[in-house]
Amino acid sequence: EKSRIALPVGSNLDRFIMKNQEAFPYASGELSQLIRDLAYAGKVVNREINRAGLADITGAYGNENVQGEEQQNLDVAANIRFTRALKKGGEVAAIISEEDEEIIDLNNPRSKYIVAIDPLDGSSNIDVNVSIGTIFSVYRRISPQGSPIQTEDVLQPGSAQVAAGYILYGSSTMFVYTTGKGVNGFTYEPSLGEYILSHQNMKMPKDGKVYSINEGSYYSFEPHVRDYVEACKKRGFSARYIGSLVADFHRNLLKGGIYIYPSTEKAPNGKLRLMYECNALAMIAEQAGGKATDGKQRILDIQPTDLHQRVPFYVGSTKMVKEATEEA
Ligand code: AHG
Ligand code: MN
Ligand code: MN
Ligand code: MN
Repeated sequence: EKSRIALPVGSNLDRFIMKNQEAFPYASGELSQLIRDLAYAGKVVNREINRAGLADITGAYGNENVQGEEQQNLDVAANIRFTRALKKGGEVAAIISEEDEEIIDLNNPRSKYIVAIDPLDGSSNIDVNVSIGTIFSVYRRISPQGSPIQTEDVLQPGSAQVAAGYILYGSSTMFVYTTGKGVNGFTYEPSLGEYILSHQNMKMPKDGKVYSINEGSYYSFEPHVRDYVEACKKRGFSARYIGSLVADFHRNLLKGGIYIYPSTEKAPNGKLRLMYECNALAMIAEQAGGKATDGKQRILDIQPTDLHQRVPFYVGSTKMVKEATEEA
């Protein structure tokens, strides 16, 4: 039985983390500190995003990342901020990041945790002032503390996550996360530098009338995906596709809906990355009563084989995900 961490709306993230920690037997505070370190880095990135147009931080960085994407300056800046904050925080032994081909070993040998992160999700939206996000997963390391990081430490199935969440740099900035006891959302109050509990025990509607998919690739979708898109249109559902997964996911979490990045001819395994996009949002979705699959199996059951592997992603209201993947 998931005990809700009951705190009045208006409490701040720090108090909530402390309350949450008490709910965990033998919690020694490291995970609490890790969450605080992520939240802090989010404040720093939030400020840089809000000033992106003023400071010389928009545009392309001039490198290609392991994804074959042109890195944006803010991709690189956000990656540095989160990596530095987690290194300094001392609770994380290693990071896998969308923006780094190899495992980032933080040389914190005593640390218990591994973080997988998409430091900036929705990069194509940075320069056009549309919402973007950060996505993170937290795992316990498997190999003994002090020993070198092993592949088994970083390639864990999503079901092994001890925490997962996202930051949405939107019309307001929000920190939304779970440690397996439900999902809670905090709205950032810049004048105080505090995240305030604004969305307690978030639940995703079981059904919805919003579908998020890039219909530009319609003719390269598999037949069952085209059929589902047609069915949505026949029912007069709303098409909402922001091009920022975190923003689309968050709206569907609140209002009900489905986000699909299916297999296409260009991307047979879809575009989204299992380790630092799909697993975290799949945990959040399930904790809020929703569903997340790759069209055939539960995202959280997938045993990863590569740091940057892509999977088709169907996530959102349970009824919609079931229908969209029926006999996929
Ligand atoms: P990222 O910016 O971290 O590389 O991820 C962007 C993702 C996701 O946020 C968004 O929904 C999707 O890419 C958009 O892809 P398409 O432009 O191919 O639709
Ligand atoms: Mn990218
Ligand atoms: Mn992304
Ligand atoms: Mn990214």
